[in-house]
Amino acid sequence: MVTKAEVSKHSSKTNCWVIIKGVVYDLTSFLDAHPGGSGIILKYAGRDATAVFESLHSNDTIEKHLPPKFNLGPVTVSNESQAEEKETNGSAAATTTSIPKTKRVSIKSIINIRDFELAASQILPAKSFAFFKAGADDELSAQWNRTSWQAVRFRPRVLAPIRQVSLKTTILGTEFSCPFFICPAGGAKLAHPTGELSLTRAAAKHDILHWVCNMAGYTQSEISDARNAEAKEQKLFWQIYALSDLAVTEKEIRNAIKLGYKGLALTADAIRAGKRERDVRTSLPDEVDDGHDDDEDDDDGFANNPTVSRSNVWTDFDWVSAIRWLRGITDLPIAIKGIQTWEDAALCMHYGVHPWLSNHAGRQLDGAPSSVETLIAIRKNCPLVFEKCEVIVDGGITRGTDIVKALALGAKGVGLGRGFLYSLVFGEKGVSKAIRILKHEVETAMALLGVTSIDQLSPPHICFSGTPSAPLSHRCNFAFPTYDSLL
Ligand code: HEM
Ligand code: HEM
Ligand SMILES: Cc1cc2nc3c(=O)[nH]c(=O)nc-3n(C[C@H](O)[C@H](O)[C@H](O)COP(=O)(O)O)c2cc1C
Repeated sequence: MVTKAEVSKHSSKTNCWVIIKGVVYDLTSFLDAHPGGSGIILKYAGRDATAVFESLHSNDTIEKHLPPKFNLGPVTVSNESQAEEKETNGSAAATTTSIPKTKRVSIKSIINIRDFELAASQILPAKSFAFFKAGADDELSAQWNRTSWQAVRFRPRVLAPIRQVSLKTTILGTEFSCPFFICPAGGAKLAHPTGELSLTRAAAKHDILHWVCNMAGYTQSEISDARNAEAKEQKLFWQIYALSDLAVTEKEIRNAIKLGYKGLALTADAIRAGKRERDVRTSLPDEVDDGHDDDEDDDDGFANNPTVSRSNVWTDFDWVSAIRWLRGITDLPIAIKGIQTWEDAALCMHYGVHPWLSNHAGRQLDGAPSSVETLIAIRKNCPLVFEKCEVIVDGGITRGTDIVKALALGAKGVGLGRGFLYSLVFGEKGVSKAIRILKHEVETAMALLGVTSIDQLSPPHICFSGTPSAPLSHRCNFAFPTYDSLL
């Protein structure tokens, strides 16, 4: 047993204990390895971090990532200190918005995906909203993601008989009721305590894909068990970051396969986390003039925020070793997430995996291209990719028309990250409403375009003039061995 008074003495970088769910942990030597960065843990050094920990991590996080030797045993708590803790505990919901309930957007008044963003900005604590909304640096790619879809125009064909429109399709070999899906996104519990469980339930109810992220706030089996009575089958895919201890990630993939997850994505665009200044600003300590302005070591707040450090991600992969490692574990369809050039899409084709065009919601490299640009660049430079692979697309999608544009340009599945996170502030019914809105918009756009099924959509439905495009001149003139030739 360790007393709270004892814990409070260990509140520095060189000596950092925290209490999580009644147990004391010595996190001193884990600080630099913590995927969320050391800064966030240090804020709670010597204190109880249960509420903030639970809002971001699943039940098995400690067991999976923290060696048992750091567990110092249960804490003893006196009644007074319990009451005091309730006051000061770093709950994610502690700093709620100041907008009165009666003035906030209600779920009934929401008619499109952008409305959910407004609702989330009113309902969520400023910090949580900043975490979702943030893009890297000047947020140019985050904005460009959105505006680049607006730059694409349709070429609608009229007087085509349209009695019924079917949105049915397959993504990586699995059938779904429509071609859009819920992207893997960490932090869902910040939007609503039910987090991924609500995303999964709504997805199952409407038979759409939920591509679950490995930073989920619930365990793989809690998520695969979550479904409503109406849902016949649970069709989930799993996304991974390769952790520096590859054995941990391998175990996770094998467990996902055992639980029936049907597809896999390796996110390749986040070996470092982008500089997300909205996050930094909401995490900076209150300004106190301590007379030490020139102490450089003390002034690293610009980098010391929850999303900057990713010290325990495996950064040594190249194409060959990554594909070899993945194929050594599974035959499931694999997508490489974060493809931003036609050359890398061509490499996916050569290595027998699927390109997922994404710039991580503009949260990583500011100045990265949008998926529209990459789609068009693949069309121009290597259209074979569309025949050999299923191209997955995300970034800035908020409308059914965006989805239809992506499909006409050759995408097979179209993901939304923030749109669904924002809708999750209303729990499962919010996500369900977002899905219904998008289905309605996609169906309307298809009918007005003159098509009755997804497979009828094709590039002639899109007008390229004035759309963002890559120059035709740069062609690939270097050679890599194919994956097959390596076996
Ligand atoms: C007991 C020790 C802890 C372990 C083993 C741990 C583990 C992890 C892991 C594995 C992640 C990556 C996401 C995931 O897989 O869930 C993560 C992210 C994170 N953790 Fe912890 N954590 C610990 C303690 C804490 C504490 C005490 C806090 C807050 C005071 C915290 C705040 C965060 C934040 C903000 C992220 C970033 C989420 C993101 O960037 O998406 N963690 N942690
Ligand atoms: C980064 C760029 C690229 C690299 C590194 C690359 C590399 C390769 C390699 C190593 C092969 C196998 C050659 C062999 O048989 O030993 C190959 C085959 C092929 N490549 Fe590429 N390539 C690239 C871009 C492209 C582009 C832009 C296109 C199409 C416009 C393309 C179309 C093909 C085709 C049709 C084959 C024949 C094999 C098949 O049917 O898959 N490649 N490429
Ligand atoms: C808050 C947030 C967390 C995210 N977390 C992850 C993650 O853990 N893994 C991942 O591969 N992508 C993650 N992404 C990226 C999404 O999967 C997706 O690529 C992106 O959100 C699509 O752009 P959109 O938000 O404009 O729809 C995250 C995105 C957001 C906004």
